[in-house]
Amino acid sequence: MTDLSAKRILLVIGGGVAAYKTLELIRRLRERGATVRAVLTRAASHFVTPLSLATLTAEKVYEDLFALTDEATIGHIELSRDADLVVIAPATADLLAKMANGLADDLASTLLLATDKKILVAPAMNLRMWLRPATLRNVQTLHADGVLFVGPDVGDMACGEFGPGRMSEPPAILAAIESALAGDTKLALPMVFASPSLGRGPLEGGHVVITSGPTHEPIDPVRYIANRSSGKQGHAIARAARALGADVTLVAGPVAVPDPPGVTTIHVETAREMLNAVEAALPADIFVAAAAVADWRTAEPVNNKIKKGAKGAPTLTLVENPDILATIARRTTTRPTIVVGFAAETEKLLANAAQKLARKSCDMIIANDVSGATGVMGGDRNQVTIMTREGAESWPDLDKDEVANRLMTKLAEMLKGSRS
Ligand code: CTP
Repeated sequence: MTDLSAKRILLVIGGGVAAYKTLELIRRLRERGATVRAVLTRAASHFVTPLSLATLTAEKVYEDLFALTDEATIGHIELSRDADLVVIAPATADLLAKMANGLADDLASTLLLATDKKILVAPAMNLRMWLRPATLRNVQTLHADGVLFVGPDVGDMACGEFGPGRMSEPPAILAAIESALAGDTKLALPMVFASPSLGRGPLEGGHVVITSGPTHEPIDPVRYIANRSSGKQGHAIARAARALGADVTLVAGPVAVPDPPGVTTIHVETAREMLNAVEAALPADIFVAAAAVADWRTAEPVNNKIKKGAKGAPTLTLVENPDILATIARRTTTRPTIVVGFAAETEKLLANAAQKLARKSCDMIIANDVSGATGVMGGDRNQVTIMTREGAESWPDLDKDEVANRLMTKLAEMLKGSRS
């Protein structure tokens, strides 16, 4: 057992159900001789009481930024620095967001901003919250700022779902504390970025290939043909497939959304590059063509910038791009077991979708209305109709993440069905 008797830990407890495990962590730290000072957020006090913390730590428990009595004993700046390590367990999405953005509106966040000590974070939250782009952005920022992470683990959640977001168990947090105190910075990699931590779930062992975003077809070195696709839906599908345990290859056109963690992302620009990247990624169990591929490219991109001149506007000659979805669906070797396309329509939604299902030889078409008024292109919500040869079902207007989760769950069931 490591001797931590000279070590002082400042333990910030966030408001999550996992806070009960923190009591066990304190017990183990105390067993090793460490001094533990606990700081409770307001939300945390709904899960564990100051009395149990004071009893276990044998120290005063700190809760209020403006408590004069606390300031008289030890000011919050001193509290934040009078420690060898700051540990946040459980670290909620809210605490991570505050810390990543430098907010300081209560005692816990103020201490985290004021400290000059290393911070070790044990995140705990629902898997959807953990996989949200906002949370992942914050985690990436904190990681870049030198914050250390332990967990989260993959498993059953208090809310009944399965996935990444469970707080690590006290022995693992204790081991991380010991490594951090010993100056080990290998811990700095948040688990969600290390693919083995995610490889469980109904798609475990499966390979899912997804296209996402627009393509850019050059006219000259500075101009291109493009469309309004943001990549939000395709990237959400990649995150959902990963959360179900699949190995995921995402072939992304030019987008502003971040690469999903734990996913192999290949960046391309044109339709032809996208097709090459998809073919190189095969074999796959499931292929989802979510990209809004430019249908046409200029016959001959010009090497130098086209100048204005006496001849007036240039005439562009367009040629058709390869249809990636149809090409993959018609492969005679290494055709993915399930091939899924989208039908982005502004009129005759279901009729056009049914035609695409047959014309492109795919197993499922996700039809969505992309008329300007719907705000689907670039927006965060989507109302889709899922069409297979067996029939069609319409889903309500949903967040794109929710569409992605429902879709991947359905595809995982179809894949299982096709094998039994
Ligand atoms: N798609 C593709 N390669 C293309 C064009 C489309 O892989 N060159 C895929 C899209 O990713 C989508 C599906 O085909 O999954 C349908 O795309 P959509 O733009 O709705 O249809 P188009 O085939 O382009 O037909 P149209 O524009 O005439 O509706």
